[in-house]
Amino acid sequence: MTRTVFVNGSFVPEDQATVSIFDRGFLMGDAIYEVTTVIDGKLIEFPAHMARLARSLAEIEMPFEVDEDALLAMHHELIARNDLDQGMIYMQVSRGPADRDFVYPADPKPTLIAFTQSIPWLSMPFIETGFKVVSCPDKRWGRRDIKTVQILWTCMSKVDAQRKGADDVWFVEDGLVTEGSSCNAFIIKNNRIITRALSNDILHGVTRAVILKFAKEQGLEVEERGFSVEEAQQADEAFVTASPLFATGVVELDGVTIGSGKPGPMTMQLREAHIRESLKDGL
Ligand code: PDD
Repeated sequence: MTRTVFVNGSFVPEDQATVSIFDRGFLMGDAIYEVTTVIDGKLIEFPAHMARLARSLAEIEMPFEVDEDALLAMHHELIARNDLDQGMIYMQVSRGPADRDFVYPADPKPTLIAFTQSIPWLSMPFIETGFKVVSCPDKRWGRRDIKTVQILWTCMSKVDAQRKGADDVWFVEDGLVTEGSSCNAFIIKNNRIITRALSNDILHGVTRAVILKFAKEQGLEVEERGFSVEEAQQADEAFVTASPLFATGVVELDGVTIGSGKPGPMTMQLREAHIRESLKDGL
């Protein structure tokens, strides 16, 4: 099926969508993106994604007004035109076309694109099996809190992880896990949930925030601090969070089985509670 995608104000068939070769997103990675999950045709945590978009854009001084109502209407139109039940909407704002120059253009004309991907998130095999992950040095840049399209080290590491027979990678810096390739990393030990604190070192995950809120509401203790690969290997449970993944168990790290070797009971409880609640609030 030919998708209908969105480019600079128009809905067009995917094979007719074009962006300039001078676009700074294409030439310089000068672009910000968001991925919003769609379940039952509804957008999950849309306002939080728009808030992060606005923050990322402000951090790179991109003059683009995040008009949440207009962007919500655009997302809904994409869902309707593509008959999307489960999947995601990828949206990207770049600084637009300009003659190549490291300095930002004085009067940029940002490029806004968005498209759908249909993926059955709630019936993926990894929900039951969990992920096997391998660690690798975090060689990404120092502003991982900004959701830019500069994600080549992530691609390189994930390909390497899959060649080693793993599903994903956990990045490590100064002996402590930062996050997963495109997810935040958590461990559970003695009923305490441990995850790295927010800083420029990690993306401030929308799902991370919601899961921590749930955990606290359920009376679980949360420690926001870094942990090592060794500590994770000895944890009772481990999991990752990302919009499309919700909370997904991690069952192996660098060849060492974590807990029972299956997604743990607390992980599954948090996952189910989160999915139930987010479906209620879906837009
Ligand atoms: N990635 N950390 C990184 C580096 C990420 O790229 C993502 C999301 C997350 C989780 O964030 P959230 O809970 O807001 O989805 C953490 C998206 C899904 C992606 O790049 O496809």
